[in-house]
Amino acid sequence: MYLPKLSIGAIALLSIMSQSVMAAPAAKKAHTAVNATAPEDTSSLNACTNSITVFNDENGTGEWKEETNAKSGWSVDDDGLELVLEPPQKFVRLTNASDYGNPYNEFASPNAPNFIAPQLLHYGKVTYQLKTSGVAGAVTAAILMAPGGGDEIDFEMLGGDRNKVQTNYFYAGGIVYGVNGGDHDTEDTAAGFHNYTIDWYATRMFKSDLPEIYLTVFLKNRSPEQIQWLVDGTVIRTTTKKETCNDKNVCSFPSHPTSVQVGLWDSSDPSSTAEWAKGPINWNTTESVTAVIKSVSIECNPEYNQIA
Ligand SMILES: *[C@@H]1O[C@H](CO)[C@@H](O)[C@H](O)[C@H]1NC(C)=O
Ligand SMILES: *[C@@H]1O[C@H](CO)[C@@H](O)[C@H](O)[C@H]1NC(C)=O
Ligand SMILES: *[C@@H]1O[C@H](CO)[C@@H](O)[C@H](O)[C@H]1NC(C)=O
Ligand SMILES: *[C@@H]1O[C@H](CO)[C@@H](O)[C@H](O)[C@H]1NC(C)=O
Ligand SMILES: *[C@@H]1O[C@H](CO)[C@@H](O)[C@H](O)[C@H]1NC(C)=O
Repeated sequence: MYLPKLSIGAIALLSIMSQSVMAAPAAKKAHTAVNATAPEDTSSLNACTNSITVFNDENGTGEWKEETNAKSGWSVDDDGLELVLEPPQKFVRLTNASDYGNPYNEFASPNAPNFIAPQLLHYGKVTYQLKTSGVAGAVTAAILMAPGGGDEIDFEMLGGDRNKVQTNYFYAGGIVYGVNGGDHDTEDTAAGFHNYTIDWYATRMFKSDLPEIYLTVFLKNRSPEQIQWLVDGTVIRTTTKKETCNDKNVCSFPSHPTSVQVGLWDSSDPSSTAEWAKGPINWNTTESVTAVIKSVSIECNPEYNQIA
């Protein structure tokens, strides 16, 4: 293979591109990942379909399904797929004396609409075009998650922090909160539609001893194992597998087939989760808690997936 010499400029550009991220606060999440320790299956290809789903009157939800087969809490119109949190039967706000007096709602929303694509994705690129719920205490989440939990790569948008997105990843058997997170400034995520991309690529043929810097240049940022999070096409964070490895070369990098999901959930309980998500939801001042998904595109990495 032909490898050009890198100019100083290219090296400088690369170092600018590899941005550092702030560690997020110790976020607690409603769904708790479990230990999924199945080894990465490299013997057979995962079945995956490249797709662009546009949610509208004509298409409905396409091949996407609500996780619990819920018939309410969502609808499709010309704007897209609307996810709606239904109010709890009673709105009672309490404070938790054992948690610095942080507030929470005694009753949370009875639903948490979460849509799932039919295929599993083993490395690839997913773009969600969506508008978040700007209600404090509501969390809009665009997630890749291995079945059974464990590996996860996500975007989480807090309604109470509309000018930020949080990014995170988890690895099977190593569930830790507030360690792998990133916190990034953006435009108001609830004011309009934006494209949120998770580019989780791995290039099997280049698993070699070549210096990573060459690979990065050659593969246009698709170095062997890395995750990039982008907002409207701009990279806001890059995590490489290498930086997840310890000194014994044991790495904590997501590597299992994942399902592509998008959802909305109420973070109003417990108080620690409400505190993280700037909640709990004030149902007395809230007309509706809604996130809108316009489209999701899925591109499966052909080296790990049998593409239909
Ligand atoms: C959905 O609708 C759009 C425009 O109405 C169309 O371009 C697209 O191909 C349709 N199919 C899917 C699966 O989204
Ligand atoms: C919400 O409004 C109802 C009706 O006015 C009131 O009874 C209730 O206390 C309010 N709840 C909170 C938490 O403010
Ligand atoms: C996950 O399972 C593996 C294998 O059984 C075990 O070694 C590891 O400690 C577990 N990790 C957690 C966080 O439970
Ligand atoms: C998001 O992506 C779609 C499809 O490529 C594009 O039409 C739209 O303009 C993008 N939106 C933004 C805010 O960049
Ligand atoms: C109150 O705080 C304690 C200590 O952090 C926690 O264990 C408990 O789950 C919290 N209860 C609620 C309802 O938030």
